[in-house]
Amino acid sequence: MKKQHIGFDLAIYEGPEELSQMEQKLLRDAEKARENAYAPYSSFKVGAAVLLENGEVVIGNNQENASYPSGLCAERVAVFQAGAKYPGVPIKTIAITATSKDFKVETPAAPCGNCRQSIMEYEQRQKNPIVILLRGEVGPIYKCSSMADILPLAFSNSFLTDS
Ligand code: THU
Repeated sequence: MKKQHIGFDLAIYEGPEELSQMEQKLLRDAEKARENAYAPYSSFKVGAAVLLENGEVVIGNNQENASYPSGLCAERVAVFQAGAKYPGVPIKTIAITATSKDFKVETPAAPCGNCRQSIMEYEQRQKNPIVILLRGEVGPIYKCSSMADILPLAFSNSFLTDS
């Protein structure tokens, strides 16, 4: 038996002023998008803003449904919209932020497993890392330099063939 350590460096910023202008704007875009989330069941509103290599920003927010599993997270609304509108244009960065009606979200809201898998597909296709910026409503900002960092041992299309 041998053991292998898998880890990554998480950059932690105390506030948006420590980010680049571009990152600050993307975070603000995600915060704006968050306000239009349709979250009557969880009261947890998530906003995502995707920066593409062509400079375009595509936003998404969570869209819930009375049949709970039929709803979709903000991140997937955003990346699927980016893929639909700008097919083949690589994603540089995704900013994600969350707020709740019931309490102050002070910890950066991390994407769920399904969203990680979906974003990972884009990262693998473009063969370039997607930077992920995470923030709650207030508090620190986490920056991950690649989806692969937070989805280790990911499933991919390479498993679907024997080559
Ligand atoms: N949600 C997201 O939009 N993104 C995530 O990564 C986690 C959860 C949404 C789904 C649901 O509308 C609400 O947050 C509560 O789970």
